[in-house]
Amino acid sequence: MPRMAKQLANIKTSAIRRTSAWLALAKDKREIISFGGGAPSLPPPPEFVQKMKDALNDPWRAVSYGGTRGSVDLREAIVRDLHKYGNVELEGPDNIIITHGGTEGIFAGLEALLDPSDEVIIADPTYLGYPEVLKIMDAKAVTLPVYVEDGFQPDIELLKKKVSRRTKALVLLSPDNPTGRVIRPEIAKAIVDLACDHDFWIVCDDAYKHTVFEGKHTWVSTLPGAEERTLTICSFSKEASIPGLRLGYTYGSIEAIDGMEKYAQYLSLCPETLAQMAMTGYLNDPEAKDRYLSEQIIPTYRERSDSMGRYIQEYLPEAKITKPQGAFYYFANFEVYLDKIGLTDEEFADELRLKKNVIVIPGDVFGENGKSHARMTFVSEPDKRIEEGVKRISEYLSEKQANKT
Ligand SMILES: Cc1ncc(COP(=O)(O)O)c(C=O)c1O
Repeated sequence: MPRMAKQLANIKTSAIRRTSAWLALAKDKREIISFGGGAPSLPPPPEFVQKMKDALNDPWRAVSYGGTRGSVDLREAIVRDLHKYGNVELEGPDNIIITHGGTEGIFAGLEALLDPSDEVIIADPTYLGYPEVLKIMDAKAVTLPVYVEDGFQPDIELLKKKVSRRTKALVLLSPDNPTGRVIRPEIAKAIVDLACDHDFWIVCDDAYKHTVFEGKHTWVSTLPGAEERTLTICSFSKEASIPGLRLGYTYGSIEAIDGMEKYAQYLSLCPETLAQMAMTGYLNDPEAKDRYLSEQIIPTYRERSDSMGRYIQEYLPEAKITKPQGAFYYFANFEVYLDKIGLTDEEFADELRLKKNVIVIPGDVFGENGKSHARMTFVSEPDKRIEEGVKRISEYLSEKQANKT
């Protein structure tokens, strides 16, 4: 066989995607408790499902190719949606590109902004979609450590030291994956000021903008000076519970979106037509979205987040946690336990899966600062199974400690 690309050796297999593969292969999925990938467990909004069925009444249209930038109807609906929820004032639908989930937005967005050797500031820990894609693009990730003691808020003085002549962009996730931190408005403003002073881009990842449990989402592009230098990546996977339909969008200046469209032509050709038709119908019924968010998403996930926090404190008292203000995850520090049993977080996650059928994501896949942590999603399982999963982790640790002594 001829040699394959050298670059492959540098790209990590996604630990999150690996857990989805295990779940797909598992014969008895009920036995496995997944605190792994951030897969919503709520059904999609009924109005969305109905629009999907309606769209199939015109099957030729529903399965045909569309424009690379996505349907104008959907983009117009998004312009109204962004204005309603965030007071975002876009000129029009040309400021938006529809993507295959936020994932294509990240890829095409970074492709459109970066040249090889450009520096991009990312938090440590951060969502692993970013560092790996930066490697593929030969760009340089400059990491900004964030700490539990600061509620995972970036330290602006430290950030200033990370900015150089080569800084091309900074990635800001809020609510954050894996830490659940919601950026404080004054910190977001300080980041925008720095970006203006040093002329770099802000790539906002707003995949979790509608799952905020404490505080408020900051719509960064609306801050003074931010509009022309912000690319905001959004996803319908989490807010409409449709991760398998692969639908998201990115908004920003027309030039930046034009740039993304060039890549998207060859990456995916066009977004999926049927999903776009259904989403257009759903967004054009704004009360349906209000209802879904306020009656389903927020109360269900807030309750599960509270439950998981309570169970961790009860059964795993030496794990350090901070309550997530948003997104889907606890980023729990297991250092005290792992020191006692002599395992790394990767080994710990493997053992939990093999011996206890519990899936967690090892913290170090999110960066150096994630060592000895585990990311545990609270959205994929109902209360009883969250308790069962946390108990199994506690049992594993007790058994392992007992075997060591
Ligand atoms: C922060 C963040 N951005 C983007 C994505 C990509 O999501 P999708 O491609 O399903 O929209 C995820 C998925 O978990 C995420 O956590």
